[in-house]
Amino acid sequence: MAYPIKKRDLLLIGLAVLILAFLWQAPPESTSRVPYDETHREYYDLASSDGKKAAEKFCADCHNDDDVVFPDDHPPKARCLFCHKLKRD
Ligand code: HEC
Ligand code: HEC
Repeated sequence: MAYPIKKRDLLLIGLAVLILAFLWQAPPESTSRVPYDETHREYYDLASSDGKKAAEKFCADCHNDDDVVFPDDHPPKARCLFCHKLKRD
């Protein structure tokens, strides 16, 4: 045989498969972005002029238990824009 497969080759192939499997499994960034619509556009402007912390103060005006309710399993929500990126970041 001109090309006997060596144990080392198999190990390398195994390693490559492991790395690929790991990369495939990593989730894509999945948290929904802040829509760029009539409702949210002014917070885009505020975020770029006064910063994200200033813009975030207004999110809870609508996003609360009585108005636009959060999904039940929503994580702690101190910093909205830390997780929900603006579409034009
Ligand atoms: C004036 C009310 C109001 C304010 C203030 C507001 N939102 Fe919203 N938001 C809505 C409404 C209504 C919806 C659902 C309809 C829509 O997508 O516009 C929504 C939807 C969303 C969604 C879900 C988008 C999706 O893909 O389903 C995110 C994320 C969000 N808002 C983030 C924010 C953040 C962050 C802020 C603060 C910077 C904010 N909102 C301020 C009313 C508001
Ligand atoms: C620690 C990260 C984190 C923070 C901080 C956070 N969220 Fe979320 N939010 C999520 C995740 C994860 C989901 C569920 C997956 C999704 O739909 O994006 C979610 C879901 C939502 C949804 C529903 C989206 C949909 O598609 O139905 C809205 C609206 C929302 N968040 C608004 C807010 C607002 C407003 C704040 C600030 C008061 C906030 N979030 C803070 C991570 C976060």
